[in-house]
Amino acid sequence: MLSPSLAAARQESGLTQAGLAARATLSVPTVRHLEAGRGQIRSFLKALAALELELGGRNLPPGAYLGARLADLRHRRGLSQRQLAALLGITQPTLVALERRSQGRLSTLEKAFSVLGAGPVLLPAGTSLPFYAGVANASVVHTWQTPKDLLERLYLVFGPFDLDPCSPTRDRAAAPVRARMYFTQEDDGLCLPWHGVVFLNPPYGRELPRWVAKAREEVVAGRARTAIALVPARTDTGWWHNDIARQADIFFLRGRLRFGEGVQSAPFPSALAVWGDDALIVQSLKESLPPCWHQGTDFAAR
Ligand SMILES: C[S@@+](CC[C@H](N)C(=O)[O-])C[C@H]1O[C@@H](n2cnc3c(N)ncnc32)[C@H](O)[C@@H]1O
Repeated sequence: MLSPSLAAARQESGLTQAGLAARATLSVPTVRHLEAGRGQIRSFLKALAALELELGGRNLPPGAYLGARLADLRHRRGLSQRQLAALLGITQPTLVALERRSQGRLSTLEKAFSVLGAGPVLLPAGTSLPFYAGVANASVVHTWQTPKDLLERLYLVFGPFDLDPCSPTRDRAAAPVRARMYFTQEDDGLCLPWHGVVFLNPPYGRELPRWVAKAREEVVAGRARTAIALVPARTDTGWWHNDIARQADIFFLRGRLRFGEGVQSAPFPSALAVWGDDALIVQSLKESLPPCWHQGTDFAAR
């Protein structure tokens, strides 16, 4: 349940077990154990953090930390600690350690998720559960890969991109985006110079503002010619006001995207921000993209 999800998330990031171990400061056998459903919750959460993921649950109430959220769900299910401990086949002190300190074995956590019907899901770090609740039934959310049909429309304008600086893989055949060059988390595309025509669908966690700022800066500095970012249309945020509004051509997409293999629509509106374009590109995008509302960089002139 959780352990295959970890393995899948690691593979999606293009990391080996050794690579994940190094990044999470865990031993390779520990990672191997975690992926087999053994080991400690603490190590599991460390491994997730190294993948920029966090553990949520479709039915897990919000709370300060995992144990507290499980305790809340237990209350909502009308179970006492003694009753749940019996259902899990553990002692009450073991359940107390889980609820108070999120401590214990990964197998206990898996069982607790299962018995309480928490609906485990791996989320990008920094996103709150209610935000993504209901996005997917899968235990690993693949749903924010750029939808293929949107990419096809962009290829009509740009051809294959020169760079995807935030790709899950460098394997051309497996990469969701057609590009000549890929940077993965291992490369850290945020710290490398970009070039040419760049497409990014950045991680939607805490780092999102940095990706958006970087896209604008790379174009302003002349390293990238054009940058196209698929972002949530969060027009109230600082990053939107600082780096998108008036700085980029914005194409607000009508309706909600169905990311990747997602069966449900995204719980947020999306937009494409384009820095470093010209009138011809804007016109071509207007013709190729699905219905959208275009906002140019210079309000007065357009
Ligand atoms: C929203 S997904 C987009 C994947 C793909 N580019 C697409 O458009 O479908 C964001 C990706 O960024 C990758 N990522 C996260 N941090 C990164 C970093 N510092 N450098 C490069 N890639 C990163 C993640 O592995 C994840 O695959």
